[in-house]
Amino acid sequence: MLDNGLILELASRLNNRVVIASEIDDGDLSGLDMEALTGRVSAFFSDKQGASILTKQILQQIILMIQEEKIPTAIEISRSGDFKPMAKEVDKKFGISESRLEKTGGTAADFTDYFRDRFRKLRDFVRANRSMLGGMLRGVDAIKQYADGREVSVIGMVYDKMVTKNGNILVTIEDENGTAKILFVKGSSPQAIEVFENSKKLVSDDVIAIKGKIYNKLVIVNSMAWPDIPIHEKKRTETDIGIAFMSDVHVGSKLFLEKQFGEMLRWLNGNVDSRKDLAGKVKYLIINGDVADGIGVYPNQDKDLAILDIYKQYSIFFDFLYSIPEYIEVFVTPGNHDAVQRAEPQPPLTKELLGSFAMDNVHIISNPSMLSIEGLKVLAYHGTSLDSVIQNIPNCSYSRPEIAMTEILKRRHLSPIYGGNIIVPSKSDALVIDEVPDILHMGHVHKNGVSDYHGTLIINSGTWQGRTAFQVKQGHIPTPGILPVYEGKSMTLSNVDFNNIL
Ligand SMILES: [Fe+2]
Repeated sequence: MLDNGLILELASRLNNRVVIASEIDDGDLSGLDMEALTGRVSAFFSDKQGASILTKQILQQIILMIQEEKIPTAIEISRSGDFKPMAKEVDKKFGISESRLEKTGGTAADFTDYFRDRFRKLRDFVRANRSMLGGMLRGVDAIKQYADGREVSVIGMVYDKMVTKNGNILVTIEDENGTAKILFVKGSSPQAIEVFENSKKLVSDDVIAIKGKIYNKLVIVNSMAWPDIPIHEKKRTETDIGIAFMSDVHVGSKLFLEKQFGEMLRWLNGNVDSRKDLAGKVKYLIINGDVADGIGVYPNQDKDLAILDIYKQYSIFFDFLYSIPEYIEVFVTPGNHDAVQRAEPQPPLTKELLGSFAMDNVHIISNPSMLSIEGLKVLAYHGTSLDSVIQNIPNCSYSRPEIAMTEILKRRHLSPIYGGNIIVPSKSDALVIDEVPDILHMGHVHKNGVSDYHGTLIINSGTWQGRTAFQVKQGHIPTPGILPVYEGKSMTLSNVDFNNIL
């Protein structure tokens, strides 16, 4: 029997003055604001003659009216008169290098080409780790030719991993010509412990170099290297400008935080007293995807939407962009909720979604994109792969996205676990992290997190959406309404919190 708790609740709120037709079930009412619904239903029947019967058709009309009431409206913001932003006085200095968007048929041959390119690129990064080069074999196949006790190094891609009955980790690696087995043994020295802990983090398709001794046609590993990014010096910008980071705005969701977002726009315009100096330094703003909540992204999403029209979701988002001062260069990438191709790399938001929107300072770009801002390389990627990284790599969690982002940098691949999220099997793998970024920015997990790895600043900016029912079920606590701003000259990062200054 269907649960009818919501029907009973609505009937009781209406003091049973309205008959709820039997075609309506609890599913039609779930996720609705019962107070708003009661008010609207009462108002609808208040001046009607005859029997008051709430049919499914009337209910749908009323739900639409409630949603219209919740639609955010463009915010009229004028620049504060005493606001003299220094960012307005300095010249813009940026470049955009978008992802190569190749179209392939997704055939078996396309996937072979894709993996060959991915393997070769990552192998070159591993080779840069000089400590592993002594005794390097030409391929994994060669292991079988050597006698026990011989020390060798080899580079391979992880094909498969299992824990042996003794608790050791046996990994099959492969390259273009063959496969081999390598064994990580639990040891007691600090180096052995470190290598063994690293082996626990290995996932399919990782490319690694290992060094060890041959025993019975397998290699007992005693050291291991990732493709990794080198330790590098942090760069400063010459000009005292700020770069602001934003992601997962989710316009169209009932949980879009219009008040905090509006306050942030007022802040950028010098209308909020707190950190006004910093607001005036913001010269660049990167918006990293999920700008709209989308439609049909997950089952029954319509219940969570304040705006059911996809074009309206985008037109409201673009209306917000008109409120950003024109001297701020804005970069917008798509995310998995946006209405473009889901497979990565994702093309920019389409002309169809943009409609008549056009601003010289707003740049609609692909996901991922590498930006060059005042001499800093900023890699912007939405972060859809964080789900599979968090699920598969030990110590990664939704509460600390910066740890998962570090694992991504070590692997020099934005989507290291093949199959974790959809990718286009292009001939040249655009998700390999070719250039070492000064800043890596992601979103997607709705949790603010900042870290530094080998000189690269890692930022997950968070979200502008409240806690969803899904997140409640998952026990995930998002951090909405925070805008990280990086000052390039002093190399300081501030998280400006728009929940506190409301
Ligand atoms: Fe996302």
